[in-house]
Amino acid sequence: MGFPTFAVASLAQAALVASVAQAQTVSVSVPSSAPTAAPTLSPSLWSLSLEQDRWTDWAGTSEPNQFLLNVLGNLEERSGETPWIRIGANSEDRTQFNPAVQFSQTVSNAPTAATPYPEAAAVVVGSEYYQIADHLPSGTNVVWGVNLLSDNLTASYLEAQAIHEAFTSSAMQDAGVTLQAIEIGNEPDLYPGKLNYTSANWNVSAYISQWTKLAKNITNAGFVTSGSGPKFFGPSFADVATTGFSPSGVVSGGLFTSKPGKLIKTYSQHHYQCGQGELLTDLVIKANVRSNLTIMEPGISVAQQQGIPYVLGETNSCFDHGAVNASNVAGAAIWALDYVLYGGSLGITRLFFHEGIGFKYNLIQPITLNISTINAAPLNPPLAPHVQPPYYGALVAAEAIGTSGHTTVTELSINDASVSGFAFYEKGVLKRAVLIDHTMFFSGSGATRTSKTISLSVSGTVQVKRLFIPSADATTGLVWGGQSFDTSSGLASGSVVTQSTSANNITLSETEIVLVTF
Ligand SMILES: *[C@@H]1O[C@H](CO)[C@@H](O)[C@H](O)[C@H]1NC(C)=O
Ligand SMILES: *[C@@H]1O[C@H](CO)[C@@H](O)[C@H](O)[C@H]1NC(C)=O
Ligand SMILES: *[C@@H]1O[C@H](CO)[C@@H](O)[C@H](O)[C@H]1NC(C)=O
Ligand SMILES: *[C@@H]1O[C@H](CO)[C@@H](O)[C@H](O)[C@H]1NC(C)=O
Ligand SMILES: *[C@@H]1O[C@H](CO)[C@@H](O)[C@H](O)[C@H]1NC(C)=O
Ligand SMILES: *[C@@H]1O[C@H](CO)[C@@H](O)[C@H](O)[C@H]1NC(C)=O
Ligand SMILES: *[C@@H]1O[C@H](CO)[C@@H](O)[C@H](O)[C@H]1NC(C)=O
Ligand SMILES: *[C@@H]1O[C@H](CO)[C@@H](O)[C@H](O)[C@H]1NC(C)=O
Repeated sequence: MGFPTFAVASLAQAALVASVAQAQTVSVSVPSSAPTAAPTLSPSLWSLSLEQDRWTDWAGTSEPNQFLLNVLGNLEERSGETPWIRIGANSEDRTQFNPAVQFSQTVSNAPTAATPYPEAAAVVVGSEYYQIADHLPSGTNVVWGVNLLSDNLTASYLEAQAIHEAFTSSAMQDAGVTLQAIEIGNEPDLYPGKLNYTSANWNVSAYISQWTKLAKNITNAGFVTSGSGPKFFGPSFADVATTGFSPSGVVSGGLFTSKPGKLIKTYSQHHYQCGQGELLTDLVIKANVRSNLTIMEPGISVAQQQGIPYVLGETNSCFDHGAVNASNVAGAAIWALDYVLYGGSLGITRLFFHEGIGFKYNLIQPITLNISTINAAPLNPPLAPHVQPPYYGALVAAEAIGTSGHTTVTELSINDASVSGFAFYEKGVLKRAVLIDHTMFFSGSGATRTSKTISLSVSGTVQVKRLFIPSADATTGLVWGGQSFDTSSGLASGSVVTQSTSANNITLSETEIVLVTF
């Protein structure tokens, strides 16, 4: 893979700043102290979910995957905490256990142009599959899924037992990697049509009784208990309210009242904003991000009533691994950052961005790819491990949250349909703001890239750090405050560049993100 040189990106950035002319001014009122309702942001607000059929590629078998460690380390450096990692998803419900298998064996599906990297049809995992979580960065919190779909007590028991053994091992304790939760079943609201499930034999009551049966076995075995150690994560529904499979449906159905149900300590909901064929220009619309996340409010309230955090346990832009020219391009960094920060401002505790090997919407491609993620065309030469545009959004989020451990956030009210913003407070004191321009500037459009002047209602000089995006349709060449992460190691190249400017005169270009430090 040829990595764009830092000098080229830097020149392009200079050219962009020079071309800026005649800007429209947008006045933004910034509360100088934190509103009382401002939620506290977890330093791992932006977390990751991994498709478990190719978990060994993420973790590395004989040795850790150094590229993955480097790119997770960049995030930890900025917020003080490495992302949580949930492992499971569709392949969680296609997994069986066999102690004779060392890591895993899969029955693969054939690649197609539409789905170059399909999930495995079946997975058998074995003795060392879970143990290699000790390759993750020290301090990583893990959530692992076990099979509910096959309604096979032996499968879920053996998986939970192997997870328990791996995470109580001295190697895992030395590695500093902690199992926070076990998830039983992925998107059980979508079971009808799979195996012998139908909409006639599967409803929320059937789900609750099947979940409770498997969970009881796992709690009786001592793998999840009311003492210290892992708890349950659920219900992990795909939709916010499929008939009965809703936050109120699980409460009225009694999911949380059984002995194991009382050990569900995280309410997990899944969400994708869009599907195949999505246009980038629809994905990034500020109003679409808001309408997609405000539908979580009933669930957030239910979780608050249960006294447990609410997370998007699996999320990303467009379902089925991302949409071509929307999920994989630089404009998706604008969407992703806005989505995560808006989610945080609503009280969503963590958003686990789903990732698979070769999926279009990934932040991280942790191993060499031999066929295109877009159309399965052979890649010659192959593409070395690399980050994709939304990763840059995660760097910005991590820096905006910072290392205080008690940063609170509020969305700024901005009377402009294509500009969003968020303010960050530590001990109630205004520290930083993020400004995001949602207007997509495309390469080759022939148009001049315009900018706006953002005038914050704060006096004095601020430091501004820019996420330079070459164009909305670019797939590489983003530069975060002078630093490129399009490197073979995933570590930064270049030195940090910031600018001093007046708080009432901040230039924001089309398809740009700025971090303001007060
Ligand atoms: C139940 O699970 C075990 C362990 O994964 C597996 O060996 C067995 O084949 C499963 N039984 C059925 C009926 O699928
Ligand atoms: C859990 O299920 C497994 C597999 O059927 C069984 O061997 C085990 O005894 C059960 N454990 C408990 C505590 O119910
Ligand atoms: C599917 O079939 C299995 C056994 O064949 C049975 O145990 C299970 O309850 C059935 N599931 C549903 C949802 O009908
Ligand atoms: C689920 O289906 C069962 C069996 O058909 C029925 O008795 C029960 O009332 C249904 N529950 C809900 C919540 O619809
Ligand atoms: C979510 O956003 C997409 C566009 O990305 C839009 O088509 C869809 O209607 C939105 N959904 C909700 C619930 O607002
Ligand atoms: C994606 O964008 C590329 C480059 O602009 C274009 O060649 C291709 O036809 C687009 N593909 C789809 C499916 O829109
Ligand atoms: C691409 O090929 C290399 C070399 O054979 C292999 O190590 C790697 O796993 C392949 N990548 C994928 C995604 O299968
Ligand atoms: C605002 O900033 C721009 C670009 O940095 C600069 O050219 C302009 O003179 C500034 N305007 C004022 C009123 O300070």
